[in-house]
Amino acid sequence: MSEDQKRHSGEAAALRVEDGMTVGLGTGSTAVWFVRALAARVEKEGLKIVGVPTSRATEGLALELGLKLTTLDQCRTLDLTVDGADEIGPGLSLIKGGGGALLREKLVWEASKRCLVIADAGKKVVQLGKFPLPVEVVAFGHATTALRICDALADSDIGMAPALRMKNGEPFLTDGGNLIYDIACGAIPDPAHLAEGLKGVTGVVEHGLFLDLAEEAILGTDAGVEILFP
Ligand code: A5P
Repeated sequence: MSEDQKRHSGEAAALRVEDGMTVGLGTGSTAVWFVRALAARVEKEGLKIVGVPTSRATEGLALELGLKLTTLDQCRTLDLTVDGADEIGPGLSLIKGGGGALLREKLVWEASKRCLVIADAGKKVVQLGKFPLPVEVVAFGHATTALRICDALADSDIGMAPALRMKNGEPFLTDGGNLIYDIACGAIPDPAHLAEGLKGVTGVVEHGLFLDLAEEAILGTDAGVEILFP
């Protein structure tokens, strides 16, 4: 992981934004580079764009940089979303949610005509699962939800137990007021099967598997960028 690689990726993605677009603004350290580069283009070129932030953190940054924002409910459809990832696997299958914004991210991604992933080169993997998979659950009854998540994992031949994400000694709360369980799967042989199993668990709000959503990835390298397609 290098900050320069993230910057290369974020800056290259900002060049893909066109005048008049409604743009999904991702969350995380790579997305910060994108939002900064986009704001610089808006200032220098007078680009007219409207952003939809995927987290409170990104909303704060975008407002600080003077970007015009709207909400998903107001715009309903976006032209382009640019966002980071924790792992990029075959076919641009992704694990996201390391920063806890997976639910808002997925809502914005699914409403976008095009989704572009930005990341440092180290995020590319041959199989998903080394990065712990985040699963967002409602707080009520979360311990029983976790047990049923174990059943879904077992159905995918994954024996690891979900771990409740903590922050400063307290359960981590998402922007939506939910909890997150992280699952150190090790390897996810069939991401689509696991995604379906997790979606079927009552109490699970969303999981961090983003499948068949990314149209292109811009990986930052030390020298520039590498472009990947599904
Ligand atoms: C936020 O919840 C995540 O999905 C991020 O997009 C992801 O963790 C990538 O973040 P970095 O760019 O900081 O690695």
